[in-house]
Amino acid sequence: MKKLLLIAILTVGSLFAQVKSDVEVPYISYQIKMGKGFDAVQANCLMCHSFGYIINQGPQSRLFWDKKVDKMITHFKAPISKEDKVIVVNYLFKHYGNGKLK
Ligand code: HEC
Repeated sequence: MKKLLLIAILTVGSLFAQVKSDVEVPYISYQIKMGKGFDAVQANCLMCHSFGYIINQGPQSRLFWDKKVDKMITHFKAPISKEDKVIVVNYLFKHYGNGKLK
């Protein structure tokens, strides 16, 4: 019983815990490389998540980017046309590619 009371006090106590100083949320801005095809990326990719998802992958092969865009289309139902997919993959490979096709 004493244990229960202690747990209850601790739980309720933490509900009223306050932070006195200002809480600062870090702002992260991602460096986006502008270039041919960027508008297609903006229109097709950024509706669901930020550009950070793309940059965090690091430099990758063309096949990798091709498969990533496929994954977005099949798994997450991204409405990306065949034409736009080509533009987006070209853009990603040019700016975030590692020079390898596979
Ligand atoms: C319909 C929504 C949607 C669209 C549109 C979309 N994505 Fe995603 N994407 C997701 C979801 C959901 C995840 C997974 C989030 C998670 O795991 O936290 C994701 C994750 C990712 C990742 C992280 C790696 C991974 O495999 O999970 C990359 C890279 C990525 N997307 C690239 C793209 C690119 C490039 C485009 C445009 C061609 C795009 N996404 C368009 C929904 C979308």
